Order: sequence, then C-alpha cells, then structure tokens
Amino acid sequence: MSKKNKENNYQDYLRINDLLNLQNPLSEKSGMIAHEEMLFIITHQVYELWFKQILYELDSILTIFQNDYIVEKEMGVINSRILRIIEIQKILLDQITVLETMTPLDFLEFRDLLVPASGFQSVQFRLLEIKMGLKSSDRIFFEKQSYKNSLDSSQKKILSKAEKKPSLFDGVNNWLNRMPFLDFEGFKFWDSYQKAVSQSLQNQKNIFLKDSTISLQEKKQLEKEHNISYKNFIAIFDNKKHNVLVKNGKRRLSYKAMQASLLIFLYRDEPVLHLPFNLLTNLIDMEKYLTSWRHLHSQMALRMIGKKIGTGGSPGYSYLKTTLENQKIFSDFMDLTSYFLPRSKLPKLPRNFQKNLGFYYARLEDNK
Ligand code: HEM
Repeated sequence: MSKKNKENNYQDYLRINDLLNLQNPLSEKSGMIAHEEMLFIITHQVYELWFKQILYELDSILTIFQNDYIVEKEMGVINSRILRIIEIQKILLDQITVLETMTPLDFLEFRDLLVPASGFQSVQFRLLEIKMGLKSSDRIFFEKQSYKNSLDSSQKKILSKAEKKPSLFDGVNNWLNRMPFLDFEGFKFWDSYQKAVSQSLQNQKNIFLKDSTISLQEKKQLEKEHNISYKNFIAIFDNKKHNVLVKNGKRRLSYKAMQASLLIFLYRDEPVLHLPFNLLTNLIDMEKYLTSWRHLHSQMALRMIGKKIGTGGSPGYSYLKTTLENQKIFSDFMDLTSYFLPRSKLPKLPRNFQKNLGFYYARLEDNK
C-alpha cells in the first residue's frame, strides 16, 4: 500500500470521530440522565443528514431547469434524481417508528429541557419546502407569526434568498410552457380535446335519456346532475377562469403548462412522452411522501404530547394537521385527473404527429 493510500482510512475519510462526538444529551449535563434522549438526538441528526442529501439532489435539478432548453438526456438525470429523493423520503417515513419506541412518559423526562428548540427551526426542512416550490402565501401562520420568527438573522437571510430563486415547481412550469406539441403538424390539441369532451359528455347524456327503464322523474334528476358535471368539466377550457383561479391561489400551473400536462398524461403511451410522464408522476409521488411525513409526524406529536403546545410555541398537533392539508405544491397535477377521457374517446393523433412522438429507429421502420 502506498503512503498516500494509507492516509485514506475509513475513520478519517468519514470523520467518524467528529460525527460520534456530536451527541450531547442535555439531561446528562443536568445530572438526571434520560435514557431516551440519545435516540431523540440521533434520530433528528439522521433526518438532517438526509435533508442535506435531498437538498443536494434538488440543487442539481434546479441547475438543469435554469436552462432555456432541456435535452432529453438531462430529463433522464432529473428523473433519476427525483426517484432518489423519493427513496430517501420513504426512509424518512420509516424512521418515525424508531422514535416512537420512546414512550410519552420517557419523553417527559427531558422535554422541558428542549424549550424553545423545535423542529420548527429546521432551516434545511424549510429550504426543502421552498426549493420544491411551497409558496410563502400558502404557509400556515399561527398568531400571525411568520415561520421565520424563531430563526436568527443569518438563517432568515438564507431562507429569504432561497424564496427569491426559481423553485422546482417554477422550473417544471416553465418547461411545460415550452412544450412544442400543443399545436403541431396541423394538430391543435386543445380544440380537438374540447370537441372530444363535448361529444363524450353528450353521448353519456343520450345513454340515460334513451333508456326506457328509467322514469321521467329520474331522467330529470340525472340530467340535472349531468349538467353540473358538464359545467365543471368544461370549465377547464375557460382561460379567463383559469387565470382567476391562479390569481386567487387555487391553481398554480399556467394555462399553457396545464394543457401540456394534460397532453402528457393522456398520450403517455407515445414513446417521446414517457420521460415527461415519469417526471409528472414522480413529482406527484414526491409530494405524496412529503404529505405522508407531515401526517405521520403530526400523529407522533399527538401521541407524544397530546394537545399540548409545541416546544417551538405553536398550537402543536392542530397546527401540524393543518399544514398537511393546505401546504401543497404539485396538487394541480392530481386535479387534472378530473378532466381525463378514456383512451378510446381521445382525439386520434395525425400520423405525422405520431411519428414525431416515436423513437428515431421506429420512424425509420415507418418510412419503409
Ligand atoms: C417526540 C417526537 C416529536 C414531537 C413530539 C414533535 C413535535 C412537533 C411539534 C409540536 C411541532 C410544531 C412546532 C412547535 O411548536 O414545536 C413540530 C414541528 C416540526 N418538527 Fe417535530 N416533533 C417530534 C419529532 C421530530 C423529528 C424526529 C423531526 C425530524 C427532523 C421533526 C421535525 C419537525 C419539523 C421539520 C417541524 C416543522 C414542521 C412544520 O412547520 O410544518 N420532529 N414538531
């Protein structure tokens, strides 16, 4: 072994000594050792390490999204890194049960020593939310206090800086805005889809209107219900309505980005749309795991401290519960499912258009 290699050893490379010296239970210092505090500290530290890795992946993805044009190869990189984040998120969910081996009574042995420290002050968790695309205006405030109030000025600065930069949501929205297939090779997706929707809904109506086993009164009721769902469905074609929803914070995707997402979801079987479809699905999963973590964490808080206020001064469980319902980033993609038509009812893509959505070697085959 050369001298150089000898210097590279496990202990030093990974700074194991430093790492193992970072656990200093407060209960030990106070002379009343609470056995569970070590688990409490290590669990939080492991979370922070995983947050660091997630942020590392997110930053690299955001750098790619800064470009005006994203080549397919990079789309593969983005997808594989989001999948890595999702795998880490699954571990974050599993870790909760390890901490739950500590009973509420055990926790009480050292909980008061923690005040006012709280996960609420996790700068990395906030960065993770911001970089994914959580808007400040969607955050839950308690007692009209900003989530930044419990942080020092340098931490506030870091978060304010991150808030000003484009998030993953912004990157995806811009990329969807640039999608070329909405008006392509003579095929106008939006007009064709609107026709297909009207036709499909009219057919549905005709089926029950012509059914002789349904009474006139029942038909009237069905027609009423049908008109309501028709109105809801058709609302997606109203650009002005969409913009009002965006303005009121009820929707986030631009009108064009929403159309492009719908095209990707509906024609996901076309080869060129596989990667974009995977990206949208991965974003939905990423949000699902974030929401699942919020849910499990709120349940853990309820189990450990009941309805008491948190060490960070929030109303505790009731605050955490609200964040899981209201602090959403990619929910527009899930909402789009309401506007799907079955494959058999979709407008047929012109042959030339379809060829462009195929793989190159498939196009050569077609040309034979
Ligand atoms: C005994 C276990 C735990 C309890 C009882 C608990 C309780 C709470 C409570 C009540 C809050 C609301 C803020 C406050 O007033 O303090 C909170 C926030 C938070 N906790 Fe925990 N927590 C526990 C474990 C963890 C763990 C292991 C993590 C991992 C990093 C964590 C991360 C966070 C984060 C990031 C927030 C901010 C959430 C938000 O504002 O949406 N907590 N926790």
